[in-house]
Amino acid sequence: MQVATEIRKQAFGHTSDGMAVELYTLANREVEARITNYGGIIVSLHTPDRNGKLDDLVLGYDSLDKYIAKTPYFGAIIGRYANRIAHATFSLDGITYTLAKNDGDNHLHGGFNKRVWTAKDVSSSAGQALELTYLSKDGEEGFPGNLPVKVVYTLTDKNELKIDYSATTDKDTVLNLTNHAYFNLAGQGNGDILQQHIMIQADRFTPIDQFSIPTGELRSVKGTPFDFTTATAIGARIDQDDQQLKMGKGYDHNWVLNNPAAGSLFLAAQAYDPHSGRVLEVLTTEPGIQLYTGNFLDGIHGKDGKVYDRRNAFCLETQHFPDSPNHPSFPTSELKPGQHFESTTVYKFSTK
Ligand code: GLA
Repeated sequence: MQVATEIRKQAFGHTSDGMAVELYTLANREVEARITNYGGIIVSLHTPDRNGKLDDLVLGYDSLDKYIAKTPYFGAIIGRYANRIAHATFSLDGITYTLAKNDGDNHLHGGFNKRVWTAKDVSSSAGQALELTYLSKDGEEGFPGNLPVKVVYTLTDKNELKIDYSATTDKDTVLNLTNHAYFNLAGQGNGDILQQHIMIQADRFTPIDQFSIPTGELRSVKGTPFDFTTATAIGARIDQDDQQLKMGKGYDHNWVLNNPAAGSLFLAAQAYDPHSGRVLEVLTTEPGIQLYTGNFLDGIHGKDGKVYDRRNAFCLETQHFPDSPNHPSFPTSELKPGQHFESTTVYKFSTK
């Protein structure tokens, strides 16, 4: 068992209104994750390759100012609602709610990635752990209900970065939380991820329209470039003449996980880099996972002088399905007073 010690804390800068922001380092013998309480962003994540060489696997910035100025959600906690809500509107209990439009006519990803969260060291024998809490007020971005949210990052001695999300509400509301880490198993800034392999335990996915909104259909992946039931290089089919790939400009879709016991921890996806030997396993209690292949990265200047171009990273965002509040047939994203929302995702690192 790893001996729990205090997590290291250092200054990371100030927000424009003068709030101090910190950077916390969670470490075990092999893996080191640095997380800021601004947006709960995973700023860096070093793991060994098969020869023991450490690399930083996540895209991001060197300074807080850059995260504040502009970010494609690098490494952040996403909420209240991960991914899109069509036309930035939904109704609940007969009331129509209007949300902030931040993606054309749609609402995308909310604003939790731009909030300063309250941090607390909750390390234990389970590993070094950082608790982040935030009170999302009734009406934030148009969502109903005061929503106290808690996110706990734990680095275990099995090289797992575990993320436990919880929340309650004082009004009926909808909720969808995830983390938007951009991974490159060859190390951030080291080219594209097209040779890296992905396996997703899902027989179906949710096709999208031209605005990246699910049509409502749950479509079989069989015989399509969306079949990742056996590990396949991300780039093997990404440029095929396929209407869904064109719509997403690559992969930017939600898969319907085959979890036989909804709500229990399930191996959703596995990624593998044949060159470094790194393996990333993603386990989750969520019903869906978004594979996004960095289709919109366009020469962003990131950490250590690296430049991030199209398809230089992939995201595996565990989640409820996009636009669920407008699709009663999708697993519900509703949360009611008295209910306790809980969700866990584990990113596990190893080599082979
Ligand atoms: C998600 C969305 C994408 C894009 C990225 C961030 O994966 O589905 O369309 O917005 O986040 O750029």
